[in-house]
Amino acid sequence: MELPIYLIGYMASGKTTVGKILANKLGWSFVDLDDAFEELYGYTTGEYIRKFGMEAFRKKEKACVEMLSELPIQKVIYATGGGYPCWEDNMDCLKELGTCFYLRWKPEQLTKRLFLSGIEHRPVAKDGMNAQQGANDEEKMLAFVRGHLAERAEIYEQAHYIIDAPNTLHDSNDEVLAEQIYKLITENL
Ligand code: S3P
Repeated sequence: MELPIYLIGYMASGKTTVGKILANKLGWSFVDLDDAFEELYGYTTGEYIRKFGMEAFRKKEKACVEMLSELPIQKVIYATGGGYPCWEDNMDCLKELGTCFYLRWKPEQLTKRLFLSGIEHRPVAKDGMNAQQGANDEEKMLAFVRGHLAERAEIYEQAHYIIDAPNTLHDSNDEVLAEQIYKLITENL
């Protein structure tokens, strides 16, 4: 298996939580690319999108990932930003740099997880929800996530491995995902 490892997937799919568990189990490094973005440019990803717009954000995000990929360390788990693979040739680039795992959840689960983890710092989800019709925020978010995930799924599904989340909202789901990926990595290194 080519290293490093890139975890990809929709917002609130657990890329950061799963990545930390996995890195800990393997004794490898963990990098959250949204955090790296903030350290590099002095704005959170959400702040940057609000201030400079999506196109400018995607360019900076790409530069950040490319810069980190030049570091001479292999044993790293990267949690990517949810929209990263879906811009220009980013998915092809990630696949060439290392091995990609898609954390796949159903729109209903993602909607619940988005509210649990908070949408204030996620302008894409918040604005997307507000642009929908619906009786309440949950209905509007579900409508947004369904459509948005359907647009992105084709790209995400190009990952080397697709990891399906259990069909529940249990807290231990992130650990279940990490365990599956851990097995795949250790058996294929
Ligand atoms: C985005 C997801 C965010 C962040 C930015 C845009 C997206 O990352 O990169 O707000 O377009 O899906 P998370 O997936 O970590 O929330």
